[in-house]
Amino acid sequence: MKINVVRTDAAPAAALLLTVPLTEGDAALSGSAASLDETLGGQVQALRARGDFKGKENETLLLFPSGAGGPERVLLVGLGKVDTVTPERLRRAAGSAAKQATRSRLASASFLLPAGLPVSAEEAGRAVAEGLVLGAYTFTEHKSRADDAPAPVELAECTVLVDLEDVEGVAEGARIGGVLARADALARSLGNQPGNVATPAYLAAAASKVAEEGGMTATILDRAALVAEGMHALLAVSAGSDQEPRLIVLEHRGGAEGEKPLVLVGKGLTFDAGGISIKPAAGMEDMKFDMCGGAAVIAAMQAIAELKVPTNVVGIVPSSENLLGASAMKPGDVLPTHLGKTVEVVNTDAEGRLILADALSYARRFAPAAVVDCATLTGACVVALGHQASAVMGSDDALVEELRAAGDRVGQRCWPLPMYDEYREQIRSDYADVKNSGGRPAGTMTAGWFLREFAADFPWAHLDIAGTAYGDGKLPYQAKGSTGVPTRLLVEWVRGRAGA
Ligand code: BES
Ligand code: MN
Ligand code: ZN
Repeated sequence: MKINVVRTDAAPAAALLLTVPLTEGDAALSGSAASLDETLGGQVQALRARGDFKGKENETLLLFPSGAGGPERVLLVGLGKVDTVTPERLRRAAGSAAKQATRSRLASASFLLPAGLPVSAEEAGRAVAEGLVLGAYTFTEHKSRADDAPAPVELAECTVLVDLEDVEGVAEGARIGGVLARADALARSLGNQPGNVATPAYLAAAASKVAEEGGMTATILDRAALVAEGMHALLAVSAGSDQEPRLIVLEHRGGAEGEKPLVLVGKGLTFDAGGISIKPAAGMEDMKFDMCGGAAVIAAMQAIAELKVPTNVVGIVPSSENLLGASAMKPGDVLPTHLGKTVEVVNTDAEGRLILADALSYARRFAPAAVVDCATLTGACVVALGHQASAVMGSDDALVEELRAAGDRVGQRCWPLPMYDEYREQIRSDYADVKNSGGRPAGTMTAGWFLREFAADFPWAHLDIAGTAYGDGKLPYQAKGSTGVPTRLLVEWVRGRAGA
């Protein structure tokens, strides 16, 4: 999608669809909204006066003005009370605009960015660009189209009409937002692919393509290389499957030679049947989304390369299926790991932490400044936080706070859970150094502690995205399936660290 950012008075009056965000309250329309309403004969003001459109959050109303020369369609979108407006509200408003454009089968649309909101020009530009690109996102690759069905129309061009002084600030924000949203869309598309398409080899090929386009190096470890490395936890998880595992490593060198890199690690479990500790059948199809952490890391690396972030960043994605073949790992098995610690497998369905353990250990060779992993790791996390926030925890409180703040800024929230020492007791094993499940109580934190056992040599934090990585697509800038979370959060954190 091409996004143009122009001053309102430089805008053509005719548009197929003009979206006008309005705040809640009695204040008279101002700026471009007021002049637009003049050409509409005061219709918007009348609707507001009658209470037919209040401007409440997410409220929408589609108008078809009759006068010639103006916009063919006007979509009013509510932002809520002016002092409560955030970038997220603008992102949702822009998402509504893109959804309406798609419904009306339009190739272009306009969006009015009003003055007077408590959001900076750059933040506003970012949020609007993200909302427009993500609101237009669909995943229809595997759907056939009936012969008589009209060809789909792509929303190819959007114009943001800016009522603010700082048009350049909005344009710069829109540039960054466009990159972030396209990365989010990549994460979504990788996540939405079914397990028979998105195998470990498929993820590795997708990552290699991202690396090539972004001038990054890609190193792909296949089964033989994993054996040579001694990554027996990852190998054990993949032992029940005919699909070979991969360890995917992408390196962006944006910083000085020798500067310690930031390392992003993402769980790339392309289908999680649970293994011998098999999952119930109901809803098991959603376990194709168990690679969303890995998808987000690959996508974040794409954005980091595109934005030329001036620091060194490594992305690591351990990828495997978790099935029930004759060679599958079994409850009670004891596994050697890349780090050297041994793991008793008490539940083969706690496989994410196994493949992440080897990946975190592998990260040591980069002497990381900090490591952040993300994973659809525990059902307990969905119970704790629902679908409203990812969980964050780690060995470094400042790092956890950086992630929490970054998530707030980009509309991909995460919330801290405690890592009390007592939780660690739950993963003590009688037969090995550690066991891979601490049972039901505090399941998200004991999983976090398991990872921490393998992340001893660097500041580390973990995002549990089990409740946020995919969903019903209720928000205006979302679609059913993968959300892309936490792609934008990861990029925001890296940019913050790089001072960019
Ligand atoms: N991939 C699942 C976690 C998950 C559950 C993600 C629901 C998204 C939605 C993970 O591999 C898993 O199975 N975890 C187990 C761990 C348990 C056996 C200790 C769980 O949460 O039940
Ligand atoms: Mn599992
Ligand atoms: Zn899993």
